[in-house]
Amino acid sequence: GPVTQWLAEMPKAELHLHLDGSLRAPRLLQLAAKHGVDLPYTSVEEVEAAYNFSDLQSFLDLYYLGASVLRDAEDFYLLMKDYLDVCRQQKIVHCEIMVEPQTYLPQGVDLSVVLAGFDRAIVEAHEGWGQSVQLILSFLRHLPEADCIAMLEAADLYRKHFCAIGLASAEKDFPPANFQTLYREAKNRGYELTAHAGEEGPASFIRDALELLSVSRIDHGVRAVEDEGLLDHLAANRVPLTVCPLSNVRLCVYDEMSEHRILELLERGLCVTVNSDDPAYFGGDLLENFAALESDLGMTREQALVLVRNGFEAAYLPSEAKMALD
Ligand code: ADE
Ligand code: ZN
Repeated sequence: GPVTQWLAEMPKAELHLHLDGSLRAPRLLQLAAKHGVDLPYTSVEEVEAAYNFSDLQSFLDLYYLGASVLRDAEDFYLLMKDYLDVCRQQKIVHCEIMVEPQTYLPQGVDLSVVLAGFDRAIVEAHEGWGQSVQLILSFLRHLPEADCIAMLEAADLYRKHFCAIGLASAEKDFPPANFQTLYREAKNRGYELTAHAGEEGPASFIRDALELLSVSRIDHGVRAVEDEGLLDHLAANRVPLTVCPLSNVRLCVYDEMSEHRILELLERGLCVTVNSDDPAYFGGDLLENFAALESDLGMTREQALVLVRNGFEAAYLPSEAKMALD
């Protein structure tokens, strides 16, 4: 629609993007063939047919399977390059990308290999068209906290590559309370702090992420709608929620986009932002997420502008850098 067309030309930020979630079917099949990894699909059509999820876990199973084809620095370079090319096409001038090195440990891939590939693509995009990129070191909460702390310590050698830490993967049985030492250690190291909370898990996990982990941003957070006092707190403190509309529908947080509450949260004064989460799995990049809000929720030009501005407000950038991009 017209609002989305207008947004296409506007500089935007994306703050909630799992790089493994941007691995598209053609690249997935190419790398599986390269490394001789057996996948339960052999064509783009079969991959797309398999991406039919009933909840977060049914997605995560295929997401980690897909990421298992990533093995060498060239693979990580191509993965990052493919997403940064989307940033260029969609005018995503600043992105904060979640990378999850624990995902590659079963394949024996070292963090140095992952970052060497990423770095080459980031430097090319920065020199090529001035792309602004920051990385978030995202931990897998289905693994023990001690494993996460070991990865945090391994990342000390590469501290300058990351602006923040995050917490992703299965939410319901893995509450924020289990990761207090990890977050205290990360805070001591000077990382910004964010975490997934209130996607499948209850609103109380958002409160716990804020109180027990001291996060300054919440990934998803849509279940805050179940707690009026929490909504008041989030609005009064402008705590950003990195909302992912297509993801929420594809993972059955909402049955249909028309049930999504993002515009109500916006009108209530919360700092909500729009993001794609795992675009290769959920059927759209950032602009397609905005397009769904226009077509299914009637997002106005004014609302769209505030959503875009919120993306820069919520970014982990010094305010001078934000003004230069905005
Ligand atoms: N990892 C990748 N996408 C995720 C999501 N939507 N929720 C939790 N963990 C994730
Ligand atoms: Zn996510």
